[in-house]
Formats: sequence, structure tokens, C-alpha cells
Amino acid sequence: MTAPATPSAASRIAVVTGASSGIGAATARQLAAAGYRVVLTARRKDRIEALAEEIDAAGHSAAAYALDVTDRAAVDEFATAFRTIGVLVNNAGGALGTDPVATGDPQDWRTMYETNVIGTLNLTQALLPALTASGDGTVVVVSSTAGHGTYEGGAGYVAAKHAEHVLAETLRLEIVGQPVRVIEIAPGMVKTEEFSLTRFRGDEERAAKVYEGVAEPLSADDVADTITWAVTRPSHVNVDLLVVRPRAQASNTKVHREL
Ligand SMILES: NC(=O)c1ccc[n+]([C@@H]2O[C@H](COP(=O)([O-])OP(=O)(O)OC[C@H]3O[C@@H](n4cnc5c(N)ncnc54)[C@H](OP(=O)(O)O)[C@@H]3O)[C@@H](O)[C@H]2O)c1
Repeated sequence: MTAPATPSAASRIAVVTGASSGIGAATARQLAAAGYRVVLTARRKDRIEALAEEIDAAGHSAAAYALDVTDRAAVDEFATAFRTIGVLVNNAGGALGTDPVATGDPQDWRTMYETNVIGTLNLTQALLPALTASGDGTVVVVSSTAGHGTYEGGAGYVAAKHAEHVLAETLRLEIVGQPVRVIEIAPGMVKTEEFSLTRFRGDEERAAKVYEGVAEPLSADDVADTITWAVTRPSHVNVDLLVVRPRAQASNTKVHREL
């Protein structure tokens, strides 16, 4: 069995976007435990500061930096802080609404594209020089199974996640030969506190229905575990794409519910 790789001094920093909740927060905790100095970013400063304190108190190392991934000037300013970094986890994102194509709000589509796709593009472009300079960089893109198949009512989110998948695949082709891996993690149903609440604009009943009767949806920790596993493989091992779903979910539209 291959042992997890320990980050070198030049590649010890891991930037995680969307670290204020769910998969991003869990990933920050696990990468910190794996030996990375984690830099937590999200818009809600209080939450990332509290998490950074928690990680420090556990004997690991973390810093918090409030950042909106859609704000390119702010992202460029953020990137000036780093000469080298080892890992960028592009996790910030999410879904808005489940309207059909016929009636979906174009503004929701724009917001999803801006956050999931342009946000990933912004961070990746801004930090690629520092990732390359480390001599052992890794870009992680947290897409979704929505990036690999569609479902009714999902087109705006599905389109954005397909675009994230294309970004990851194309970047891997374009930078081959440089010391940077590009890893895409595509989770299925993950029960996080906020994902469905955001999608249904705070409607708790509709959000809860998403997971109704599903024995064990994935947790944020399950996904963080796959991200950390892929990142800690030896540098020459590039996990191109890892699709992970709960056992109860066979496809985006085929879910076993015990009701
Ligand atoms: N939950 C699922 O079923 C599932 C399945 C597959 C893929 N995913 C993907 O996994 C990622 C994380 O999902 P999650 O379930 O952990 O959702 P979540 O708990 O809602 O987390 C979303 C994170 O993104 C951040 N964010 C949103 N817009 C942002 C912006 N403009 N700038 C910076 N940060 C922003 C949020 O922080 P702030 O609000 O503090 O900025 C939050 O930390 C997303 O890309 C999502 O599409 C989720």
C-alpha cells in the first residue's frame, strides 16, 4: 500500500475556498491534520476565523482570509501573499433553485456560473504561479456528479458544474509537464448544513426533503476524506477524477429512500 506523502516545506500551504461550512470546513480540518498549513477563505470572516482558531488549538496551523471568489481584484490581492503554495482546493460554490429551463431565472444561472466556474478560474489563475513555483502543486476542483449528468430542474447548476469539469480537464492538458496535478472530485448527495438551504433560499422543509428517507447520505467528512486521500498520494500520482456517492444513490435521479 502506498503511504501518504508528507508535504515539503515549499508545498506545505493549502488554500481552501468555501471553508466556512460543509465540505470546505471539513477539508480544511483534514488537510491540517495531514500536515498542511491551511489558509481558509470564504465571505463569512467570523466563521473562518473561528475554524482557524479551532485548528490551531488542535495543534495544527491555520489562517483565515475573507474572500469573495467572484471578486477578481480581491483574489489577485490575496495571491500576492504567496510565493509558493502546495494545494488549492476550489470548493466554494453551490446551487440556486430547481426551476426548469423554461422558467429558470437567468440571474440564478449567472450567479451559479460566477461562483462555481469564474470563482474557480479566478483562484486557479491567480495561484498557478505559486503552485508551479512550489515544484509540487495540486489544484483540486470540487465539481459534482451534476458535472457528469443532468437531471430535471438542475440545468443551471448542471451547466456550471459541467463547465468546472471542462476547466479541470482542459487545464490538465495545458499544463502537462509542469509540476502541478489537477484533481477533480465529483460528489453525489452530501448532507451538509447549508447546501440545500441555500438552494431553496432558506426553506428548511424543502431542504430537508432532499435527504428524506436516505439512510446515509455522504457527510462533509466523507468528501474531505476523498480530497485528502487524493492530495496526499505521491506527487507523480494524479487522480484525474474521483466520483463518490452514497451507496443509496445509483445516479443523479436514482436514489433509494426508505419512506
Ligand atoms: N452538498 C452536496 O450535495 C454537494 C454535492 C456535490 C458537490 N457539491 C459542491 O461542493 C462544494 C461545497 O458544498 P457544500 O455542500 O459544502 O455547501 P455549503 O455548505 O453551502 O458551502 C458552500 C461554501 O461556499 C462558500 N461560498 C459561496 N459563494 C462564495 C463566494 N462568492 N465567495 C467565496 N465563498 C463562497 C460559502 O461560504 P460563504 O457563504 O461564507 O462565502 C461556503 O463556505 C460546492 O462547490 C458544491 O457545489 C456539494
